[in-house]
Amino acid sequence: MAVFTKTSVPRGAHTLPQAYYTSRDIFEQEQERIFARRWLLVGREEQAASAGEYFLTTIGRDNLIIVRGQDGRLRALYNVCRHRGTRMCEQASGKFLGSIMCPYHAWTYNLDGTLLAARNMDGVPDFDKARYPLRQAALATWEGFIFINLAERPEPFEVAFAPLLGRFARWHIAQLRVARTIEYDLRCNWKLIVQNYSECYHCPLVHPALDKLTPYDSGRNDLLEGPFLGGYMTLRVSGSRMSMSGKAYYPPLGEVAGDELDRVYYYAIFPTMLLSLEPDYVMVHRIEPLAVDRSIVTCQWLFHPDTMARPDFDTSDAVDFWDMTNRQDWHVCELSQEGVASRAYTPGPYANQEGLLYQFDRYYRSVMDD
Ligand code: FES
Ligand SMILES: [Fe+2]
Repeated sequence: MAVFTKTSVPRGAHTLPQAYYTSRDIFEQEQERIFARRWLLVGREEQAASAGEYFLTTIGRDNLIIVRGQDGRLRALYNVCRHRGTRMCEQASGKFLGSIMCPYHAWTYNLDGTLLAARNMDGVPDFDKARYPLRQAALATWEGFIFINLAERPEPFEVAFAPLLGRFARWHIAQLRVARTIEYDLRCNWKLIVQNYSECYHCPLVHPALDKLTPYDSGRNDLLEGPFLGGYMTLRVSGSRMSMSGKAYYPPLGEVAGDELDRVYYYAIFPTMLLSLEPDYVMVHRIEPLAVDRSIVTCQWLFHPDTMARPDFDTSDAVDFWDMTNRQDWHVCELSQEGVASRAYTPGPYANQEGLLYQFDRYYRSVMDD
């Protein structure tokens, strides 16, 4: 049984030094030490549901094609032609008709990445098609989410995610479908977004509407250190929901019951996934760091297909609430970026309610120093 407690910080706990938010060198180091090594959320299985369906994803300098093969398997193929390296596919998502053709000289690949045809290469001595498949990254799925890992020898997903596997089984997240997606372009470092997500010290000031639904000091956490951090907050009114109206319109997900009906669970999954579990829907944020001071956040709301099929189904009550809350958060994240970049910034002391931020920083630095 998970034990949930309040966070605290040790004596002397301070925020990160400025360079972690402003240095291009550190951003480059993060690309190698974090983003090229860790399992990263890229999307939902339904985004490539049938053979040939694909979507593109960018990780730093790398662009990959997440595609479902004729064999039903998902693969992460580097979008890099083995002839002269050209990026082959430009359209963000779609469906291949059985193969992937490079637009430059028409080398053509099967959906499993093997080279099917290379025009006029027959006369080239020693040319062997078998030696030029598209390069692949490791891919794993969990609860309907797709993760990829660019490392040569990645830590197995089941090992890396062991503390989370099965943890949210009661929500039946794999069955859920994306009802809405909103993309945000933020002028701030990716870590400020994770840190902001990990405390509600700011809630009474930044989110008056959210504070009416869940008291800012109701947070209790069961994952208190390491790559996964979070816990729950308690709804002020039993049976209410995180939405504009605060009303519950839809049945709870899966086997969600008891105390879970009056809680919202929030988990920061290192490095760039934020998973929020409501009784009747799930919200997920994926952060894509574009530069040391710029990040794209994709927010998706997942509902049960039976709920989505109801004639009265309407995402706006929940989505409008979180879209407003997201924008309030992004605004303070951008203000933080501005201030942290100033010559006046020095690390400031963390409050006890910022225990998860202290732990995030600690884990992040251990990975960077690895
Ligand atoms: S670069 Fe792709 S076929 Fe030439
Ligand atoms: Fe917030």
